[in-house]
Amino acid sequence: MTRLTILEYPDPRLRARAVPVDAVDTPLRELIDDMLETMYAANGIGLAATQVDVHRRLLVADVSEGRNDPRVFINPEILRLDGTTRSQEGCLSVPGFFDEVERAESVRVRALGRNGKPFEVELDGLLAICLQHEIDHLDGKLFVDYLSEMKRQRVRKKLEKDRRLSAEGRSPAPARAPAI
Ligand code: NI
Repeated sequence: MTRLTILEYPDPRLRARAVPVDAVDTPLRELIDDMLETMYAANGIGLAATQVDVHRRLLVADVSEGRNDPRVFINPEILRLDGTTRSQEGCLSVPGFFDEVERAESVRVRALGRNGKPFEVELDGLLAICLQHEIDHLDGKLFVDYLSEMKRQRVRKKLEKDRRLSAEGRSPAPARAPAI
């Protein structure tokens, strides 16, 4: 397995709209394994293909405590959204930054699994939020888009500063919440 490079905001490639996956074959399953490896290594709970510069509709997630319940959604489609909830979000493409975003509380989704077979599932809690966040990535959207321009400016400045610090061999402040 290979650890992939995660694109970081404001990289314009994060704005690409992903196209549907046309075949669930061995190369795709290798990509899924690499994405899971990359997500676990970065301590993330979700990762969309867009974030590793592959513009196909594919995402992986694991919101379990034991980090042993990988979920794969290929060509995910939201069939229904219910309720609203606000929670603190972070993103592997916006490292070290967290803010509150409003999302639907539960979602019904249809997708293909790792085996290429279609399934439908009702999700709530963190996995429902994660799924909405990742599908946004596939559409070229980031959670910071829900915030004010002033906050986005602050994020860009903070990321520039963090990159400068790591270039100097110093590490930026550690993350406080799970990044999706
Ligand atoms: Ni994200």
